[in-house]
This record gives sequence, structure tokens and C-alpha cells, in this order.
Amino acid sequence: MIELGVNIDHVATLREARKGFAPDVIAAAKVCEIAGAHQITVHLRQDRRHIQDRDVHLLHEVLQIRLNLEMGVTDEIIDIALRIKPHTVCLVPENRLEITTEGGLDVAAQTKRLIDVVKNFHDAGVRVSTFIDPDQAQVHASAKVHADAVELHTGAYANAKGDLVLHELQRIRAAADDAQKARLELHAGHGLTVRNLAPIAQIPNLREVNIGHDIIARAIFIGLENAVREILDILNLYSD
Ligand code: PXP
Repeated sequence: MIELGVNIDHVATLREARKGFAPDVIAAAKVCEIAGAHQITVHLRQDRRHIQDRDVHLLHEVLQIRLNLEMGVTDEIIDIALRIKPHTVCLVPENRLEITTEGGLDVAAQTKRLIDVVKNFHDAGVRVSTFIDPDQAQVHASAKVHADAVELHTGAYANAKGDLVLHELQRIRAAADDAQKARLELHAGHGLTVRNLAPIAQIPNLREVNIGHDIIARAIFIGLENAVREILDILNLYSD
């Protein structure tokens, strides 16, 4: 079964455009929960451009489904995550000037530090995934730091055109194989949409996808509940 994490950062992006209360991030999370999502994903960025600390605290209190906190590996955010103890943290690279997460985390370049970070989360009962490019060295490094899962970055696949689509899909499939051999749980995310999800959903052993922008964008026209359900329908077609 492939589970769906709905990333609701962009509900908060709209709220922060006016620094007010609408749209309500907690209400959005609850609609996703009712629609059948398995997890809510949020990224608490250093610049707090969308999700705020209070959102993470409230979500942790009110959700019946899992909370997955995407986070840059900085001391400030690690402290907050260790206090809140979400179900999972997904370690991502973070650059203040980027529009969205660009590229995967270079786990191989910081294995020493990440071994400690992962251990601290495990000691607190929090599972850890690493958001990485579909690259064998990064999969192996994620196993080396004892991550529980890898989330393969599907952004290059989502942006590819023509023959490159198949090329990017092959890279993801190869990295998925590597993850299985390394006994890492397999997740995927970034840039996934109702139109490009099916080939990803057919990758053996895929357990979870995290989807944000497309669901929130389609919610404007068809409603959030429907936007979540149409993704779940695709996942269910390919789940065993
Ligand atoms: N997974 C990770 C690790 C991400 O950083 C993001 C973007 O915040 C997503 C999934 C969702 O990407 P999108 O909004 O393009 O669906």
C-alpha cells in the first residue's frame, strides 16, 4: 500500500500573504485527514515563510494521522523538532533564497554529523527520512547514518520533457532498487501531480508519497477533499 502525505505548506503561504488567520492550516489538515490522507507534512523553514512554530504544535496536538516534519538540519530546528516529537522528520537541504526545496540533501558529505542527528531523533522515538536525489551514493549514505527511510526527490522527473522523462524515471527506479537492498523504506516526493504520479506509483516497494503544490492548487477549483481523493484513487490503483 502506498500512503499519502499531504504537504499543506501552501495553505500557510496564502495565510501569510495577509499575516492573518485565513485560510486555516489546521482546518485544511483536518479536511485532508477526513478525505483519507495518511499523513500531514509541513516544512518549518528557518525564515518561517509559510508554516509557523504554532502550526506545528497545534497539528501535533489535533491530528489523528501522522505528522511528518520536513526540516533543514540546523540546531534551532533540531531543538524544536526534538521538543515537539512528530512521528517522522524528513531531513531536507535548505537555502534561504530558494523558491522551494532545490535538490536533495547531501547526506554523503555529512555522515558524521547526521549519525548523531539521527540517533538523537531515534532516542526521542522519532523516525527519520532523508530527502535525497535518486543517487546510489546518497542511498548508501542514508543507510550509513541509520535513517529509517529515504524520500527520493522526484523534481527532475517532474520537470523533464520528452525522452528525459524516461531517463529520470530510470534513475528513480535504480535508486529505489538500491534503497530496497539497503533495507530503507521507500518514499518519493516533489513536483508530483495527478498527471505524472502513475509511473512513480508503479515503482516496487514504494510506501509513501508526499504531495503539496498540486493538491493545494487543484483544491482551488475542485475543493481540498476532492483533490486529496483523486490522488488516493491513483495510489490505490497501484497499491498491493
Ligand atoms: N517532499 C519534500 C521533502 C519537499 O521538500 C516538498 C516540498 O516542500 C514536497 C515533498 C512536496 O513537493 P510539492 O509541493 O512539489 O508536491
